[in-house]
Order: sequence, then structure tokens, then C-alpha cells
Amino acid sequence: MAMAEIGRTPAGGCNRQALTDGDRTARDLFVGWAREEGCGVTIDEVGNIFATRAGDEPETNPVLVGSHLDTQATGGRFDGVYGVMAGLEVIRTLNALGVHTRRSIQIADWTNEEGCRFAPAMLGSGVMAGIYDLDYAYARTDKSGAKFGEELARIGYRGTASACRRPYHAAFEAHIEQGPVLEGSSTTIGVVTGIQGAYWFDVTLEGVASHAGSTPMHMRCDPWRAACPLIEKAFAIAQATAPDGRATIGDIRIRPGSRNTVPDRLIVSVDLRHPDPETLQAMVAEFRATVDTLAKSTGVASSVEQIWHMAPSQFDSRLVDLVDGAAGELGCSRRRMVSGAGHDSLHTAQFIPTAMIFVPCVRGLSHNEAEAASPEDLAAGADVLLQVVAATANE
Ligand code: HGY
Ligand code: MN
Ligand code: MN
Repeated sequence: MAMAEIGRTPAGGCNRQALTDGDRTARDLFVGWAREEGCGVTIDEVGNIFATRAGDEPETNPVLVGSHLDTQATGGRFDGVYGVMAGLEVIRTLNALGVHTRRSIQIADWTNEEGCRFAPAMLGSGVMAGIYDLDYAYARTDKSGAKFGEELARIGYRGTASACRRPYHAAFEAHIEQGPVLEGSSTTIGVVTGIQGAYWFDVTLEGVASHAGSTPMHMRCDPWRAACPLIEKAFAIAQATAPDGRATIGDIRIRPGSRNTVPDRLIVSVDLRHPDPETLQAMVAEFRATVDTLAKSTGVASSVEQIWHMAPSQFDSRLVDLVDGAAGELGCSRRRMVSGAGHDSLHTAQFIPTAMIFVPCVRGLSHNEAEAASPEDLAAGADVLLQVVAATANE
């Protein structure tokens, strides 16, 4: 809750977007708390923070517990933050009980998980996983043109440690579900088996700017005449692949954005998702074909830029079973499920055995200032995290 005060919005959510002053304050607070627990702290060149509790055999591969402190503009108090705080709570509990572990335990705060200010999402963990190179990350810009690398230096978190793959024994992430499944089934723990696939596109539609009053309708080349049916088609594609298909139009940039000028350019952001890879490919193909068809029929110029893609991912079955077993031993109701939202664990799973723990959130709401979760559910998730981290840190 102290962390939630940073970037707190009047509606009670959090606006702590990546590499803003709020993100810096949150990072400083987390680093301070971690140091109070005796953790060593390292910052890598893409700003990922690693707080390490030394094990008795520090030469062994550590256990990683990560999530993120950055939020959406209308974010909540739990998305990402819960996983970092739960990791810190594991450290505090082991310290309070004087429990030693063979392997070191590392809590990570991954830079720019949300991807709302700087696209793509999960950039910090993606650089470490080798999905993106550092120059690509540093060159990303936000809507005002601010550069990722410069903002990272500005907030003092452009570290020197190299952001690259290194051996870990296991990786875990606790997170609110951000959807309705757990609450809807009165289940406390989500045993996450993997993450669905997603594509992000920017569709640029270009027409001819003209006067709202004096230009007859038949003489216009208005990009909205392509944008409107295209957006409807995106929703129809998701509907056709229900219940798992997802289509989201989260942002539209309009030029010139004047109420009495027919725009000459629209940039429509499109987010398509599905857990099945073939179905997702078919959704994308149908969407792209529709862009071409509508451009031809309306005379609007079009281009599609792919901003991000995450293939559906599977977590490590041994660790998934460990999460399931720990929840069972703690007497928690639990169910296996695929994550609808993307997480940094997608990237750690590329090179580290990884699993995730979900807890319910109220009305399945997230990326919304009303995001909420009960202390009991959050504690249950942290208890499961403690058990699986302690178990793997002693393997
Ligand atoms: O887009 C996502 O799924 C995540 O919230 N970044
Ligand atoms: Mn998140
Ligand atoms: Mn999020």
C-alpha cells in the first residue's frame, strides 16, 4: 500500500508509467526495502533491478522471483507490484525465521513490462532473454518523442551489469489473474500452465485532409471509411474465435485531430490474442487481408506495422506441479489455467524453468484504477510462493 501511494491517482489507482519520476521513486523504495533485508542490489543496462538474498552456496544457480513496478496510465495497485512485493515478503519471512537456503534468491523488478509508454511490452525481460538488443530498446520512443535510453539514464537506472541470459535454477512470478476465472469459480490459486499468444499492430490509414463544411461527402478520401469497418472486423474475428479470441483497439492517433477537418491520417493500435497458435495466425491473416480489401474499396492508403508478437508459451511442468502441490498442502483451492495477460515470465521461460502463481482480483478487473484483491488471497499466493521458492532454493 505504501508503494501504491507512489503515482496514486484521484480514483485510487496508480499511474506509474515506465521510466517516469514515479517509476524512479518506486524503484528507490523497493531498493531501500531490499537493502534493509540485507540484499545485494544490482541494476543491469536496461534498468532491470535484481535484489539478491545470498544462499549458503552462492556458487549454485539462484532462484529468481520477478515481476514489475511500472503501471498503465489508469493502472491498479496490484498488477506487477504484487509479484515484486510478494517476492520481498518471501525474503523478509526467511530472514525473520532465520531460514537458510542453499541457493541465493533474487527478486527482480523488470523494466517496462506494460509497454504502454514505450512499446513493446516486457522490454526489460526481453532484452535479458535476448529477444531484443539493447540499441533497439534504447531507441524506443514514447508519444512525446522521449527516448527509452535517455529516460532510463535520467531516472538513474541505466545500470552497468549486462542484461543477458545467465543460469538460474528456477523462476517464479506471483500475479493477480487480471481476469474473471478464479473469482468466477471461487478458486484461490491459479496454477498457471502458460501464456496465450498475442500480436500488436499499428495500422496506418491515410486519406486527404479536407474541409468539414465545404467538401461534399463523395469527394472525400476519409480514412475513417476504412477504419470503422476495420475495427468492426477485428471484433468480429474475436467473436468468431470466442471464448478465447481477443481483439482490443486501445489507441487511435488522429492527424490533424481537428473537429472541422477530415483527417488525413489515422494510426489504429490493434491487439489480437489467442492461446492456440494456429488460430492466432488465422486471426492475423484475416485481419491483414481485411486491411488490404478496405484500402482498395475506399481508396485509403494503408500500411500495417507489427509492433510486438509473443507466441503462446508453456511453463515448466515440474514447477507447475510444484505450485499445484504447494497450494494443495496449504489447503488452497486451485485450478490450472492459461494466462490471458502477458508477463515477463514469458521471457524467463525462454531460458529458465518458470512457473506462475495467480490470485483472484475483484470482478476480474485490471488495467483499471478500481483493480482490487483481498489481503487473504494475496497472502495465500505469497504463501505458495514462499513454499516453492524455499523448496527449489534448497534443491
Ligand atoms: O499486455 C499485456 O498483456 C501485459 O499487461 N503487458
Ligand atoms: Mn503485469
Ligand atoms: Mn499490466
